[in-house]
Amino acid sequence: MTSLPPLLPAAELVGAGLVVPCLDGTDRPYRDLDCAASTPALRVVADRVTEFLPWYSSVHRGAGYKSRQSTAAYEGARESTHRFARRPSAGGNVVVLCRNTTEAINHLAYRLQLHPDDVVATTVVEHHANLLPWARVAQRRWVECGADGTFSTDDVIAVLDGGRRPALLAVTGASNVTGWLPPIEEICAAAHARGIPVLLDAAQLAPHRPLPPGPDFIAFSGHKLYAPFGAGALIGPRHVFETGDPFLAGGGAVDLVDLDEVIWTDPPEREEAGSPNVIGAVAFGAAMDELTRIGWDAIGRHEAALSTRLHDGLGAIDGVEVLGPVTEPAHAPLAVAAFTVEGMHHGLVAARLSAEFGIGVRHGCFCAHPYLLRLLGVGPAGVADARAAVLRGDRSSIPGAVRASCGLGTSGEDVDALLRALDQVIHGGPPPVGYEQDPVTGDFWPEGQARGWSEGERPAGAACARG
Ligand code: ALA
Repeated sequence: MTSLPPLLPAAELVGAGLVVPCLDGTDRPYRDLDCAASTPALRVVADRVTEFLPWYSSVHRGAGYKSRQSTAAYEGARESTHRFARRPSAGGNVVVLCRNTTEAINHLAYRLQLHPDDVVATTVVEHHANLLPWARVAQRRWVECGADGTFSTDDVIAVLDGGRRPALLAVTGASNVTGWLPPIEEICAAAHARGIPVLLDAAQLAPHRPLPPGPDFIAFSGHKLYAPFGAGALIGPRHVFETGDPFLAGGGAVDLVDLDEVIWTDPPEREEAGSPNVIGAVAFGAAMDELTRIGWDAIGRHEAALSTRLHDGLGAIDGVEVLGPVTEPAHAPLAVAAFTVEGMHHGLVAARLSAEFGIGVRHGCFCAHPYLLRLLGVGPAGVADARAAVLRGDRSSIPGAVRASCGLGTSGEDVDALLRALDQVIHGGPPPVGYEQDPVTGDFWPEGQARGWSEGERPAGAACARG
């Protein structure tokens, strides 16, 4: 196979080159194939944070020199977000800096001031961040997916036209499970032709592709974008945030407060009550600037090569079934693959990859339960069984899959190591030790006292199956 180095020299991601203990007593290079959940920090992000820390102070609240520096750094991160999203502040858009995609979508769900009878059109492909907030504030109308986990623009149009006009279309830019990229620009055009605004959940898209111009609102997270310091963003038209109550009430969001009166200030500050996460914002801004510097062409080429290697390699292993669409190379999904192994629990596959090979993947339903149930073909009886078991506190048989997901630091060798390890897990005879399942978390653990894996060294439980 041709060599495919990581896109960045190893030193440019914090934690590159780590080794981890395995059951045979050796240390192996850690293969981080869980980038769809959280990415490591870019070195420039960590350096920027370290450089900024001495200047850390209050933002928008202090006359001191350090406060001025902090305010400038915070507002600089906001400007980076405007640039990254290609939505200039002068163009009537507001960037609300918040914790992550989940918070951003909850924020928007509150802020749109929907009536309980209003309809939000959304899809069964969404992860929970873009499913659950809408259930609280409106009726949801679903775009279903086919057995391959995709839907077409026509499917979306049928739902948009299938009853009362939706107040919003909330749709993902990239599936965190299959890496599938819905045709967002076409979907936005169809929604806009009907006067329906669009929220793009860009949690998975933003680290991999330029943000598209079509959506009215965009939400994304720093922790999936090489800036794991707790910041993310909601972007939307300024007028939406100019009237009405902000999501959070408190200091920093006001112009004047008396005991029975408040005059809220203008957005974006109106939406950011409380002392903001300055460090997170600085990291988030630095990561977006760095991705722009690296360039989408280089990122796209690297990830397309990884995606092909991952999908082709998994498809060639007997006993592995990859979930989701089989796409043309020109429409290669992100370098993300969810798969099942015939006759083996997803948690056991993930545990063996970790304990025996030093490979980090995620298993379970990836915070996208409805989508996984469809991809796995779990019918009503299977769902009822899983529900009954969970209600008894038993998570051992929650349906699920294994997911491998790549990022800037992933090399072809990382993918090849996964493929070799999987082949061994499936075809290489029994494991070196037994594994036991904890029914409370659904996790599997190797038996014995190997360094790093003994009972006393287990964290509370990865509880991947929950999601
Ligand atoms: N959405 C995150 C994931 O895919 C949590 O793992």
